[in-house]
Amino acid sequence: MPRHIAIIMDGNGRWARNRHLPRVAGHRKGAEAVRATVRACAEQGVEYLTLFAFSSENWRRPPDEVSFLMDLFVSALEQEVAKLHENGIRFRVIGALDRFEPRIQELIKHAEALTGDNAGLTLTIAANYGGRWDLIQACKRLIAERPDLAQTFTEADLSSRLAMNYAPEPDLFIRTGGEQRVSNFLLWQLAYTELYFTDTLWPDFDAPALEKAIHSYRTRERRFGRTSEQLQDESSLRLTPASGTG
Ligand code: IPE
Ligand code: IPE
Ligand code: MG
Repeated sequence: MPRHIAIIMDGNGRWARNRHLPRVAGHRKGAEAVRATVRACAEQGVEYLTLFAFSSENWRRPPDEVSFLMDLFVSALEQEVAKLHENGIRFRVIGALDRFEPRIQELIKHAEALTGDNAGLTLTIAANYGGRWDLIQACKRLIAERPDLAQTFTEADLSSRLAMNYAPEPDLFIRTGGEQRVSNFLLWQLAYTELYFTDTLWPDFDAPALEKAIHSYRTRERRFGRTSEQLQDESSLRLTPASGTG
């Protein structure tokens, strides 16, 4: 079972266009798919779910669409957070939040504080997030906090300053909507993540679609640079103590 699933929720606009609806109808429907996916992940015992909701580059969209997405974000923060809390979900937001209106920033702070001690699924929304932004802000923090490490810092020094330093790296990456690219999502953390692409448009994504992605993940062999034979040897070693007397 993947501990951490990261999703690029893509295809809202095409879902709407296919139905001769305005793009924003796709975003509204997409919000329902978010609810279904959060529920399914919580039920399946996934520990971390990270959803790309708005990229650093999405400000380039028509102003009407951007402001609709902001309104959707506000109403989700106002209406859903209490429910998340009831269900023991820990809620986090990553991204350059200073670009958002003060009201949104307040709602985020409140939601994170309210749910911070919950022990269930950690749901992270990436909003005004970009993998390159994340790496730059981590470098800036590192230089500010540990100028002495300028020449000697390690991967751990940097990764502990990334916005999602509280989560393990994603095991499974899902992108809906048919495109096969990373679009500036978690650049550092995706180094060894299993990638899964589906043509399903995000508003159509549901528990069975998630199940299919998880099934695909389970068929993969994660080698992290080693050989298949090494992994098999290691797993037989690991089994020895338990199976030794049988
Ligand atoms: C993803 O769907 C939602 C956001 C990026 C906010 P899109 O709006 O990108 O949908 P398509 O790719 O145009 O179909
Ligand atoms: C990626 O989707 C960002 C989000 C889903 C939030 P886009 O639709 O913006 O990506 P591109 O532009 O097709 O790469
Ligand atoms: Mg898109």
